[in-house]
Amino acid sequence: MKKVFYVTTPIYYVNAEPHIGHAYTTIVADFLARWHRIAGYDTYFLTGTDEHGEKIAQAARANGEEPQAFVDKVSARFKQAWEKLNIKYDDFIRTTEPRHKKLVQYILQKVRDAGDIYYGEYEGLYCVGCERFLTEKELVDGKCPDHGTVPERRKEGNYFFRMEKYRLWLKDYIEKNPDFILPEGYRNEVLSMLSEPIGDLSISRPRSRVPWGIPLPWDEEHVTYVWFDALLNYVSALGYPDGDKYHRYWEHAWHLIGKDILKPHAVFWPTMLKSAGLPIYRRLNVGGFLLGPDGRKMSKSLGNVVDPFALADKYSPDVVRYYLLRDLPYGADGSVGEAALVERYNSDLANDLGNLLSRTVTMIEKFFGGYIPSPGPAEGPDHELIAEAEKLPDEVEAKVRRMEISEALKAVWRFIGRANKYIDETAPWALAKDPGKKDRLGTVLYNLAEALRIISVHIEAAMPGVPAKIREQLGIRDESLTTWDSVKRFGVLPAGLKTGDKKIIFPRIEGPVEVKTEKAKTEEEKPKVEQNIITIDEFAKIDLRVAEVLEASRIEGADKLLKLKVRIGEETRQIVAGIAKYYAPEQLVGKKIVVVANLKPARLRGVESQGMLLAASTEGKLVLVTVDGDIESGAKVK
Ligand code: MSP
Repeated sequence: MKKVFYVTTPIYYVNAEPHIGHAYTTIVADFLARWHRIAGYDTYFLTGTDEHGEKIAQAARANGEEPQAFVDKVSARFKQAWEKLNIKYDDFIRTTEPRHKKLVQYILQKVRDAGDIYYGEYEGLYCVGCERFLTEKELVDGKCPDHGTVPERRKEGNYFFRMEKYRLWLKDYIEKNPDFILPEGYRNEVLSMLSEPIGDLSISRPRSRVPWGIPLPWDEEHVTYVWFDALLNYVSALGYPDGDKYHRYWEHAWHLIGKDILKPHAVFWPTMLKSAGLPIYRRLNVGGFLLGPDGRKMSKSLGNVVDPFALADKYSPDVVRYYLLRDLPYGADGSVGEAALVERYNSDLANDLGNLLSRTVTMIEKFFGGYIPSPGPAEGPDHELIAEAEKLPDEVEAKVRRMEISEALKAVWRFIGRANKYIDETAPWALAKDPGKKDRLGTVLYNLAEALRIISVHIEAAMPGVPAKIREQLGIRDESLTTWDSVKRFGVLPAGLKTGDKKIIFPRIEGPVEVKTEKAKTEEEKPKVEQNIITIDEFAKIDLRVAEVLEASRIEGADKLLKLKVRIGEETRQIVAGIAKYYAPEQLVGKKIVVVANLKPARLRGVESQGMLLAASTEGKLVLVTVDGDIESGAKVK
């Protein structure tokens, strides 16, 4: 069977500059496209920009420009941004292009001919940020949860798409196709949306109010824009209805989206396709949101915005791509920051991969004059190395196809770790001392070079700039040695290749990283409480207990510290706390306080402390955390 793959990103609104959220989704799509291409799939990768609608027109006006000139400019900036990150798309669609407008009008007519469009007066709560009417249920404290703004009450004549008509069909389809929406949590969210009436979808606006859209073919006084307009980019770019690309790729489509646009993609889009008589896409992959290094939503006013383009300039696009793909399991929210990038770089790239390459090439130079030696029979640890290598491609393929990209990279790095361990196990420098072991030494170094060839193919989708550097040092020029099929078998690398100049491809980054973030603008905009978001599982690791203070005394020579003896259930412990300025020892006896019971013991001024008590403090003030009522010591605090 021919393997075909079509991947799309959301088309990005041009009212904002490209940022890390856009970059992340696009890097994931580029990874998938490159990976599938390497693995032999006939692949097509589409991205683009969403250029119609009220908020785009507003942004153009605010900029003192005509909408078309404005969208031309910002759309070009997205293209430049993707170049910086080494994103290789096959097509970049813009919704203001004639090919797209023509298709939108064609589909509108088709849906109308199917009897699925009617005209009605509508009154509802409209969010300009979302460019759609929100239901009361979607609001949080009367505001749009994504934009934090109060939606406007609007009443106007709109055309409607009979979306509700297809609800049960869609629900049934999703139930029967467990892989249609991943991860499963989002699939469940959509099923729950579909368990109640979803209503019909307003698809047009009066041109008198918002002219910046595509005119309806049967009523020039109304225009359409997001979502009816935008979603269709995924097929207009393929040249629907007649284009070859449409026939070749559409049924294999994977959409990547952020969780913010789940409903339009999971509900509006399939019902639109059904009504227009097109098959629906194959898979919706829903990604989480990136948060600042402090675990908060990134925003300029918080000063926690991470700029992927500046990071790419500083560390190379390969490093930024690898970091984001490896550190953030797709589908979950996650924090990003430069310090975490550097940590990942030093451990995985400088240490694991960089060292494996430089140790291997150095030894081949030193012991074999730079020619890759011929391997002899496999023995000892060779078997395990070879077995691990040969199972890697299938393991990676299964993970990538399930969108477990971070896990797929982890598997590659497990193999890199295996190869480094193989060096320690075989101790080539010791073999080199014994002339009788020259053949064995040759086998070991051949196996390492072969492992690196296999690794170079497996990292290409994540870091497209790196494999060439590895291959250059190993002297690999023949392209047949870098195909997916060629890495399914160990031992394909020919002996006798001449290694290239030795270069450190990932020099270690030393010292603390100076993380530059924009300064928060005003005092009010600063976060009220500094936060580091943790998961419930992380919190569950902390064992908080009620403790009763049995004794308290000062510690000689340490005027800030008190030594407490506390009872936690059956156990008595000693805790040292820096509270002497705020409490006299006698005030404490009998109090029920809260302590961290599973903290590693520490010595403070030579006195052992077996836990930590909790206290609330501001400058110059401190009060102990106590329990509001009678409860035995040892009780868990949660
Ligand atoms: N134009 C619509 C999409 C139409 S698709 C037919 C749109 N555009 S957008 O510019 O707002 O981009 C939204 C997408 O950008 C999200 O779905 C997500 O993929 C990405 N991200 C934006 N901010 C993000 C984060 N902070 N983190 C991760 N991705 C996020 O909606």
